[in-house]
Amino acid sequence: MLSRKIPIDAAPPNVTPTYASRGMTHSVLRNVLPEESMEPRAAYQLIHDELALDANPALNLATFVTTYMDDEAQRLMVETFNKNAIDWDEYPQTVALQDRCVNMLSRLFGSAEHHDGGGTATVGSSEAIHLAGLAMKFRWRNARRAAGLPCDRPNIVMGANVQVCWEKFARYFDVEPRYVPLTPTRFIIGVDEAMALVDENTIGVVGILGSTYTGQYEPIAALDAALTVLCDERNAGGAGGTNKTGGAGGTNNAGGAGGTNKTGGANGAGGDGRAGDANGTGDANGWFWDVPLHVDAASGGFVAPFLTPELLWDFRLPRVHSINVSGHKYGLVYPGVGWVLWREAADLPRELIFEVDYLGGSHANFGLNFSRGASQIVAQYYNLIRLGRDGYTAIMTSLAETARGLAVEVGRLPGVTLVAGGTDLPLVCLRLNDDVPFTVFDISDRLRLRGWVVPAYRMAADAESVSVLRIVVREGLSRDMADCLLADIAAALTHLRAFPPEPPAAAAASGPAAAAAAAGPAPAPVPTRHPSVPVGACIAGMARVSTEKVETKTTAVC
Ligand SMILES: Cc1ncc(COP(=O)(O)O)c(C=O)c1O
Repeated sequence: MLSRKIPIDAAPPNVTPTYASRGMTHSVLRNVLPEESMEPRAAYQLIHDELALDANPALNLATFVTTYMDDEAQRLMVETFNKNAIDWDEYPQTVALQDRCVNMLSRLFGSAEHHDGGGTATVGSSEAIHLAGLAMKFRWRNARRAAGLPCDRPNIVMGANVQVCWEKFARYFDVEPRYVPLTPTRFIIGVDEAMALVDENTIGVVGILGSTYTGQYEPIAALDAALTVLCDERNAGGAGGTNKTGGAGGTNNAGGAGGTNKTGGANGAGGDGRAGDANGTGDANGWFWDVPLHVDAASGGFVAPFLTPELLWDFRLPRVHSINVSGHKYGLVYPGVGWVLWREAADLPRELIFEVDYLGGSHANFGLNFSRGASQIVAQYYNLIRLGRDGYTAIMTSLAETARGLAVEVGRLPGVTLVAGGTDLPLVCLRLNDDVPFTVFDISDRLRLRGWVVPAYRMAADAESVSVLRIVVREGLSRDMADCLLADIAAALTHLRAFPPEPPAAAAASGPAAAAAAAGPAPAPVPTRHPSVPVGACIAGMARVSTEKVETKTTAVC
């Protein structure tokens, strides 16, 4: 979270509780470190009261992230809050639990016994995706260097519906993002459209198991097959080059710049049909096409294996080299844990891994963070052994049933069209028919009055004309609560029909959009979905440092 600096006179100066003279009478500045200490109870009460303004997590149906855990899991988390997961020598048993989680997850995701890949815990899927993206970039670059070909223009192909972390990866790590546009009737990647964007500089293609926008699974198996056809065609068509005999298995097995891709590698040894096993001839430039597929299974990774185990989306597909999953979404752990897994050791170039020895011992580390809490890893392990396959299946089945039941009822409401109704991720996504005199944003506002947080948003490019409301069904949303939500949605629709909000047309005509239109054609757009924020702008969750000096009197209860 990036916080911004607030000018000294701009912010309300103090935090003032309403309790009078019960133990704390000195002043507390809002944005300057207080000179004096205060009693723990006073500090607690002050913060506790302020946090009451937040939404109730149980009613927050915007998030995929876990808001309920067993008491026993919470106890374990409290017991391990003071452990740093990076202190391997000091906490070897915590490391052992992480290792077991990685093993369980890679097998859950179809890793065969001869696959020698591994993985790591991360803070969430975003960090996991940055690591997976880096591995793809380095793998591609090493192979390009070894083939004596340019490696300065990497690109990555994905649907315009990717979560913002993919856009961050591309921008932070200098990879050109190539987005497959959506259409007003297709809200996920199109396979042919994706293939049209792939070229020799493509470090990988992303498939999402559970789109953030609609919960739909992208066609991962079709992407896998189409990529193989495309690579085979390219490899068959060329005059051959430096990497004729080895296939992709050898592109980065050596990990470093010295690696060669002539002789093949361990990847082929398993004989599992992995892409690149075949001895291709490469294209006319001598480039052997071997484009990997990464699966962003942030949400679906803990849903599909239990609800649709027959669905092929994971390491059972030959081109899937890496997978990320959020432990804190349907892995059912409180926020702060994700996982990234690689199929083969060769998929993770060695130069990305740091051997760290100043904590005692020597340990391999690949991560953006160094220190991080151990408790979420411990809690993930708790869930895995406590629930097992049966437990996860029972929970996911129940969530899917709740989502489908809710979807059926919501779909019957006048003016509503279902976009997704719990068939993939357990969520309900709906839009309004064109003749409805209000928007999904109005419904979202009305629901907020009852405490529900149900987000409304526009679809990604080029389906921005479609706006939806999304209800994520998580553990904690019982059937009974879902019925209450349904009643509140129905009431919101009735109210909005009776009192339709003013159309925003008049305001828009004189607002910034109209001014921009009058200013003439805009410069050519930079390929981005989320523009950079202007310096000094106020951003939610991103605070600026205040120069506030005003001292105020605060009294807190204790
Ligand atoms: C498909 C997808 N990928 C990645 C992310 C980022 O995950 P995290 O919040 O664990 O960083 C999300 C978050 O909602 C997501 O839906």
